[in-house]
Amino acid sequence: MRRLAGLPSWLRLLIGGGVLGLIVVVIAVIVLVASASDAAYEQPIAFKHSVHAGDFGIPCQYCHVGVAKGPAATIPSVAKCAGCHESGVTPELVSADGDEIAKLLDYWERQEPIPWKRVNVQPSYVHFNHSSHIAAGVGCGSCHGDIANMDRVEPAALLNMGFCLGCHAQQENKDALWDCSVCHY
Ligand code: HEC
Ligand code: HEC
Ligand code: HEC
Ligand code: HEC
Ligand code: HEC
Repeated sequence: MRRLAGLPSWLRLLIGGGVLGLIVVVIAVIVLVASASDAAYEQPIAFKHSVHAGDFGIPCQYCHVGVAKGPAATIPSVAKCAGCHESGVTPELVSADGDEIAKLLDYWERQEPIPWKRVNVQPSYVHFNHSSHIAAGVGCGSCHGDIANMDRVEPAALLNMGFCLGCHAQQENKDALWDCSVCHY
């Protein structure tokens, strides 16, 4: 601050205030982004992949029925959840108790879809198709990480263009898979 000593006091104030203001803004933005991204993956029901796909080994495709058939993996309907969780259906295996199960059965009773928040979303100008990847033997984990051990799904890899091209570069038909029109049209 020594060098500032020669400046008029109003200018020193402006510089000092500006720096302080900038620091405050930067901190505010960091806090906002951190809390927003945490809240973004909070789901209406605390559904755990670690219990279903992990402990009980329910196959991914039992719930994500579209994944090998077309572009979207699809999220199971509340009817599918109720199929196991409604009391009396499979009492020896699945409990119908607990706050989270109660929430699920409320949706089922109201015949209302559970408003799951999307975690991985591509911009509309990107063409992505699950089925061609599954057919080529690319595992879910390459793009989504170790879902079977997650209590709550979070994006494992940033599914951006560099990530897509990085893997396409390793394929035999690299040139075709790097063509802009493969993903953008
Ligand atoms: C090559 C990368 C890749 C692989 C492999 C992959 N996914 Fe995805 N997945 C994505 C991308 C990208 C999105 C976002 C797509 C969008 O927004 O259109 C996504 C979205 C999803 C969604 C959100 C809902 C939907 O309908 O798409 C689910 C569920 C999902 N994937 C499950 C799976 C499962 C289960 C597997 C394995 C059987 C799998 N994915 C394999 C990249 C992949
Ligand atoms: C194939 C049967 C099956 C299906 C389908 C199923 N579940 Fe479960 N679920 C289980 C089993 C098994 C457990 C673990 C035993 C228990 O808690 O009763 C469980 C546990 C739970 C729990 C308590 C987990 C915990 O310990 O925190 C919740 C909440 C839950 N499931 C929600 C759902 C939702 C939401 C769906 C639909 C997307 C769903 N389940 C679909 C079998 C199933
Ligand atoms: C019992 C049903 C069930 C099974 C089995 C299951 N899932 Fe899911 N999956 C869901 C539900 C419900 C959601 C939406 C809520 C959430 O994100 O937790 C979901 C969400 C996801 C998402 C995030 C979707 C998005 O918005 O981007 C991915 C990725 C995913 N599952 C992958 C898998 C993989 C991989 C497996 C197998 C290891 C698997 N799932 C097994 C029910 C299931
Ligand atoms: C882990 C490796 C891997 C990643 C990551 C990956 N891909 Fe692929 N992709 C493949 C393979 C393998 C094929 C199939 C090549 C074939 O059939 O010749 C393919 C094929 C494609 C095709 C052509 C077939 C079709 O569905 O029309 C498109 C488009 C595509 N990928 C888009 C994407 C996008 C978008 C991403 C990023 C979100 C992505 N891929 C990430 C491995 C990958
Ligand atoms: C394998 C799939 C794939 C191929 C091939 C591909 N892109 Fe992309 N591109 C993407 C994805 C995914 C995104 C979204 C990026 C994100 O969300 O960060 C994207 C985003 C973009 C954007 C927007 C960037 C931004 O920051 O808004 C431009 C521009 C673009 N791509 C141009 C191209 C051009 C030019 C080519 C050919 C040289 C190409 N892409 C080839 C997958 C691809």
